[in-house]
Amino acid sequence: MPTLSDPISADGLTLKNRIVMPPMANDLSSEKGEVTQKHLDHYRARAEAEVGLIIIEHSYIVPEGKMSARQLGIYDDSLVPGLKSLADTIRAAGARSAIQLTHAGANTTAEVCGCQPVGPSGIPVPNRRENPRPLEVDEIHALTAAYGEAARRAREAGFDAIEIHGAHGFLLCQFASPFTNRRSDDYGGSTGNRLRFPLEVIAAARQATGPSFPLMYRFGASDFMQGGLALDEAQKIAPMLVEAGICILDVSGGLCGSRPKDLGGMPGYFVPLAQSIKSVAGVPVIAVGGITDPVFANSVIAEEKADLVGVGRALLKNPNWAREALQQLAE
Ligand SMILES: Cc1cc2nc3c(=O)[nH]c(=O)nc-3n(C[C@H](O)[C@H](O)[C@H](O)COP(=O)(O)O)c2cc1C
Repeated sequence: MPTLSDPISADGLTLKNRIVMPPMANDLSSEKGEVTQKHLDHYRARAEAEVGLIIIEHSYIVPEGKMSARQLGIYDDSLVPGLKSLADTIRAAGARSAIQLTHAGANTTAEVCGCQPVGPSGIPVPNRRENPRPLEVDEIHALTAAYGEAARRAREAGFDAIEIHGAHGFLLCQFASPFTNRRSDDYGGSTGNRLRFPLEVIAAARQATGPSFPLMYRFGASDFMQGGLALDEAQKIAPMLVEAGICILDVSGGLCGSRPKDLGGMPGYFVPLAQSIKSVAGVPVIAVGGITDPVFANSVIAEEKADLVGVGRALLKNPNWAREALQQLAE
């Protein structure tokens, strides 16, 4: 029976235990999106305290894809030295790291991103008011290349993996969702067409990082809304992501953010979603959502509902959560 303290490997990424700090934006960057001392202190505290894998918060791949004023960026080579200091800090503290790559798409404002937000179609994500401009096909190709460049920077900076953000109503999630994607070209309509852009991004990341670099995907496996992506389609999409080269699926959901209202504060609210994806994926799966109790976290692993657990807000509140959890379980 696997336990929370067991190591796990995927595509050359070996983690000392099953505890993951999921990506959590904290607005600690400079206005240009640079790493600051506050980032180093924030992540070092969790890395020193036995978290197996730290996934650095969503980092924008082009300035037009920025969502908040002090968001972390990975859009330019000048940002690599700062990112390297972050990757080095985490490694020296004993954890492994990935960085999440994102474009906000329609999930931002003109004030923050400096232009009219873009999306697959002129449909706003439900929690936003500004109408996005539909991307032209050559713009999709340019953004695919930008994801590739960002992945290259992540590898150069020394992160152990990247995570492509395909959840919570951000750009790749907007393309996958039938609610926000109403295109009638090769990037809309059928499942394969709505997934075309995410799959091309994975291919670009693979091309840019070479054959042996672990690629993870934050998979919005249900939009939790009428007319959105639902689990039955997500179960068809998961093997497509794996076939494209994803070695760990970080399962989340919600077109309007990571905590859909009707799921409330239920402990482990996305565990059933992760379990359903695990049953078809054939690669390790991370379960997240309201996990705060070590015994519950361990049961998710022991009952093989997921292979790793993401502990978000509990780790923000208590940087020592992982160490204390492992101690409690050992006793
Ligand atoms: C402050 C904060 C920032 C977040 N930022 C991100 C992010 O950058 N990328 C992402 O995929 N999810 C983000 N999330 C969602 C978390 O990764 C996680 O899925 C969610 O908080 C549920 O886990 P929890 O109940 O353990 O906190 C954020 C959540 C919080 C609370």
